[in-house]
Amino acid sequence: MEILAGWAELSGAETALLAESIGAEEADAMIENVVGRFALPLGIGANFLINGRNYLVPMAVEEPSVVAAVSFGALLARAGGGISAGSTRPVMIAQVQLLDVGDPCKAEKEIVAAREQILACAETSPSLTRLGGGPQNIEVRHLPDTPAGPMLVVHLLIDCRDAMGANAANTSAEAVAPLLEQLTGGRAGLRILSNLSDKRRAWAEVEIPANAFDSVEFPGREVVHRIAEASAFAYADPYRAATHNKGIFNGVDAVLLATGNDWRAVEAGAHAWAARDGQYRSLTSWHVQGAPGSELLHGRLEMPLAVGTVGGATQSHPSSRIALKILGLDAGVNDGQAHVRPCSNGDEAAAPPSGAAARLSEIVAAVGLAQNLAALRALATIGIQKGHMRLHARQVAVSAGAQGMAVEVIAGKLVSEGTIRVERARELLRDTDN
Ligand code: MEV
Repeated sequence: MEILAGWAELSGAETALLAESIGAEEADAMIENVVGRFALPLGIGANFLINGRNYLVPMAVEEPSVVAAVSFGALLARAGGGISAGSTRPVMIAQVQLLDVGDPCKAEKEIVAAREQILACAETSPSLTRLGGGPQNIEVRHLPDTPAGPMLVVHLLIDCRDAMGANAANTSAEAVAPLLEQLTGGRAGLRILSNLSDKRRAWAEVEIPANAFDSVEFPGREVVHRIAEASAFAYADPYRAATHNKGIFNGVDAVLLATGNDWRAVEAGAHAWAARDGQYRSLTSWHVQGAPGSELLHGRLEMPLAVGTVGGATQSHPSSRIALKILGLDAGVNDGQAHVRPCSNGDEAAAPPSGAAARLSEIVAAVGLAQNLAALRALATIGIQKGHMRLHARQVAVSAGAQGMAVEVIAGKLVSEGTIRVERARELLRDTDN
């Protein structure tokens, strides 16, 4: 905590807030029928070097070994100069469903001809426009054959700057619906954003020398080939792809949760994107490049990543505000530029200029890639159970009632005995107490 407070210049009040999280009144203001608060551990993903800058990454997650694994993945990435990441413009899609359109082709022509009028009508947020965002374009899609008859779908493409943009997209969709009815003679149905935000994507890439994977049991060269085989498996088989992507979301969701972002929205978009060619596939790909003896492992993750650093829980949840501060993406950065925090290698200019939300999406992509790398390295070599055992044993010790130093003592005994069960932990605890 001391290191973190120094790194992110957290005040005493802020460190206290991290421990406390939200108060009952704040919780009551967030959702309905509040009866309590549900706390999760907040950990720090370490070792991240992204676009030449160091990051400590706040992660809210209940699963043991996720934070340890991602920190190890980020450390491996450092051996190849860190992670490079990028993102598209933060463009969200708002959909208007049009039914009972007599002549869909004629209607499309009317819509395209009225493009400027539609965009002007969709411009419902002066602050977004002032910051260089707002409605950018329209698209018309035909769904000729649905059980409810043919439909025309109009997409509004809206640059949401540092907001996740659900509110802006929904407001614009509702605003333009009457005009679209008038233009097409049809009837507007749903008016809502699409969570398949495939125009708002982020990516992360690494290139790591094979010798970074050398261990007593396995030469690095063999490990990188095994990781590439694991990647091919996840590309070809949806059963494996689901587990592969679940591992990516161990890290992705933890950062989204810690920063107050809508992780269900990102999950929905990424899973739909993973199935874009008709088969559900992996979100990452890993290949071995280079001549024998100087192999490099190249990895890439790309996915839709609609995240915000303003609005919603990113601001109303005190822990999220502090999480953004730890990432150098503090609230109040509403000029489209992320704050620049000095990094230990002094390389201020390495990160491309981008908005705070874009920067967050790149960090999230980097976390997903590092999480996947750590999982594949373990799975392709010793398996994950060995590494999980100690962390799992700590959880079992806590479930059995161990506290303080006793947690480590009981966990150590469980691991050395090879039986990680709550009943055994209780017995050991009783023996320790006696
Ligand atoms: C466990 O939470 C995640 C993994 O199953 C991911 C994977 O199999 O790639 C280890």
